[in-house]
Amino acid sequence: MELREKAYAKLNLGLDVLRRMDDGYHEVLTVMQSVSLCDEIRLKLAGGETITASTNLKYLPKGEKNMAVRAALLFFERTGLPVRGGEIEIDKSIPVGAGMAGGSSDAAAVLRALNRAFQAGLSRPELEALALELGSDVPFCVTGGTVLCRGRGEIMTDLPPMPKCWAVICKPPFSISTPELFSIINCGKIKIRPDMDGIIKGIERGDLAQIARRIYNVLEDFLPPQYSEVKVIKSKLIDLGALGASMTGTGSAVYGLFDSQDAARSAYDALKTQYRECLLAVTTEKLGLN
Ligand code: C5P
Repeated sequence: MELREKAYAKLNLGLDVLRRMDDGYHEVLTVMQSVSLCDEIRLKLAGGETITASTNLKYLPKGEKNMAVRAALLFFERTGLPVRGGEIEIDKSIPVGAGMAGGSSDAAAVLRALNRAFQAGLSRPELEALALELGSDVPFCVTGGTVLCRGRGEIMTDLPPMPKCWAVICKPPFSISTPELFSIINCGKIKIRPDMDGIIKGIERGDLAQIARRIYNVLEDFLPPQYSEVKVIKSKLIDLGALGASMTGTGSAVYGLFDSQDAARSAYDALKTQYRECLLAVTTEKLGLN
């Protein structure tokens, strides 16, 4: 049996951190948006009970440290279906350690593909509950689209699709660890916050400029000095004509939003000469589960 599924990247349109919760996680308020940039997943299920992952990036884990493997094992465990061993081949295009939910999206894609292929009949809320056991961003990745996310990210309210636009995404030559960045933030010291109400209104009105002007990620203010390239890339994107620019998630990738493909392409061409991991993507809408 061979299954194929695409795993789409996400961007955070505004990211606010409200408080540190008793369980150590942080309560966030953010709009997550899927984009066309994706990993390609191929599940080759044969027999046995062992599931392994292989990717075009040799340094990624092959066993249960890989979220895609964990997702498959969790699916079989919770549905009670007999484990079908095999290999999950992942062709990675989403930068790793970038704040774009690469691993989370791979895991969600595995849940979607298995649910469909084995006709397990898990509903969207059921899949999202399973997804949360794998990580905070995985529930959003189950269907993606344009979603207001609260709590750890799992309390989700669907928003209308944001107006179609292009994102130039640029990752500096370092990754930022999510737990590490969350461990150094101090919610009492956040001076500027994104205008989340304005972002949501912009989405409801289909006003890209209103959204782009308001995107801001509070985590940027806590970046240690060795990550200063994040701010440099942001300025470059604005200079190159982006309507707004921000770090996504816990970084290190930065994106700029453009209302025309040509303008985005010119900015991409300019940045590509300076940064190896530079990508061009368009916003995408929510996926169906069937
Ligand atoms: O949920 P996930 O495994 O992606 O989170 C990784 C780490 O990031 C958590 O262990 C936690 O330290 C931090 N985190 C957080 N608040 C969130 C999401 C993640 O503090 N909302």
